[in-house]
Amino acid sequence: MAERKDRRDFLVGVGIGAGVVALGGQGVAALRSLVPNVSYDAPTTVKLGPPAEFPDGMKFLPEQRLFVFREGNTFHAISAVCTHLGCTVRAEALPRVETKEVGGRPLKLTHRFLCPCHGSRYEGDGQNVAGPAPRPLAWYDLTLAADDGQLVVDLARPVTHDFRLTIA
Ligand code: FES
Repeated sequence: MAERKDRRDFLVGVGIGAGVVALGGQGVAALRSLVPNVSYDAPTTVKLGPPAEFPDGMKFLPEQRLFVFREGNTFHAISAVCTHLGCTVRAEALPRVETKEVGGRPLKLTHRFLCPCHGSRYEGDGQNVAGPAPRPLAWYDLTLAADDGQLVVDLARPVTHDFRLTIA
């Protein structure tokens, strides 16, 4: 008799345990459904506009904190984010254009960069030369969008300083 009661108690216990597990699973699923399955991170690939909208020389894009340089049909992009603590650097036009060997290729320098926060200075290729900035400004990958030909920057893809995008 006692054996039968133990068996019944055991089966009741198993049933209650299974019910708790099932309810728990449904509860987790219900809570999970309240969280949309989307990423709120800002996209790293950004269309910047048709190349024709970029004048020869430099154009600052405040939203992307980016300087886009154009020399004829050749483009490159330098970050405006100071490598010290992330302030936005300012571009200052050089009194005269200089040419510097950058990444094994000549580059016309029209500006230099100054950080207003703690005084870091960068040459026109982004090389840090003074102040607390620990490294050069980043250069970012540029491409042309396949659908509409706009200039596209990938802010998650830093490139070496020999990068140039030349369009036909
Ligand atoms: S954030 Fe630019 S020098 Fe400190």
